[in-house]
Amino acid sequence: MTGPTDYTGSRVLVTGGSSGIGAALAVAFADRGATVGIVARRKDRLAEVLGRCRAHAPASRMWVADLADPQAVERLAGDAVEELGGVDVLVNNAGIPKRRHVTALDMATVESVMAINYLSPVRLTLALLPPMIERGSGRIVNVSSVAAPLSSPGEAAYDASKAAIAVFSEAMAVDLWDTGVKITVVYPGVVDTELFTLPDNDPFAGGVDAITVGEAVATILEGIDSGSHAVYVPRYFSEFAEAKARDVDGFLAGSAAYVQSLATKNRSDPGDGA
Ligand SMILES: NC(=O)c1ccc[n+]([C@@H]2O[C@H](COP(=O)([O-])OP(=O)(O)OC[C@H]3O[C@@H](n4cnc5c(N)ncnc54)[C@H](OP(=O)(O)O)[C@@H]3O)[C@@H](O)[C@H]2O)c1
Repeated sequence: MTGPTDYTGSRVLVTGGSSGIGAALAVAFADRGATVGIVARRKDRLAEVLGRCRAHAPASRMWVADLADPQAVERLAGDAVEELGGVDVLVNNAGIPKRRHVTALDMATVESVMAINYLSPVRLTLALLPPMIERGSGRIVNVSSVAAPLSSPGEAAYDASKAAIAVFSEAMAVDLWDTGVKITVVYPGVVDTELFTLPDNDPFAGGVDAITVGEAVATILEGIDSGSHAVYVPRYFSEFAEAKARDVDGFLAGSAAYVQSLATKNRSDPGDGA
């Protein structure tokens, strides 16, 4: 059995490195020897995470950017290549939730979710891919969600953005099969992060136990180490995706019954649920 991958000498760029999964992944990569670059909007939070990365990897860097802005993404790609000397591993982790019933969605909201969860990681990928192909090596890790394969109810805009990045990634993996550039899609379930308390979202319906960020990151790193194309976090969520693929009609009927049972439960016990 081989141990964890040693990233000494590697340059790893993690988007959404100011909190949650991205912050913990960045520190974990630094702990394994990588020089890490992190990016997000909150400067103070990034600086705190950068301090923890630099304890392992002193040349690590941070950039403050709003990745919904296409020009900021292009600038980030240039800055990362210049200041890190290149990017060997790109982790497209930055993302926003959108828990909102389809009847309350408007196009501006749908487009804003697509901009950060789909268009931004694709733009960064296309900007950083050519040097990876030229070197004949590289790894792109795109963080999707189980909300994509499971079509999570009450989150249509979010689900679609995460399905888009997952499918883009799988097609890209085949296009790049012999280039030495490897692609991984991560499908987290429910991980205890700030994602569930951000404003402008319906309350989280609950019903699924959250795992810790530490548990999620351990599973993600194991998945990357194993070379898997699809990493479910926790792993058992892949069984739900397989069950849905076998019987979409039955799965959607089950989802509808589940949503109704949660609504009934929350009506009788309004204090329950996050
Ligand atoms: N937690 C879960 O249960 C779960 C489940 C499935 C998938 N995921 C996915 O996992 C990824 C990480 O989420 P998390 O759970 O760790 O939540 P989080 O703590 O809220 O992290 C989200 C990260 O994305 C960054 N971000 C958001 N909008 C941005 C923007 N416009 N420009 C730059 N950075 C931006 C945030 O930084 P700033 O606010 O500082 O910009 C933050 O660092 C997301 O893609 C999420 O969809 C999470």
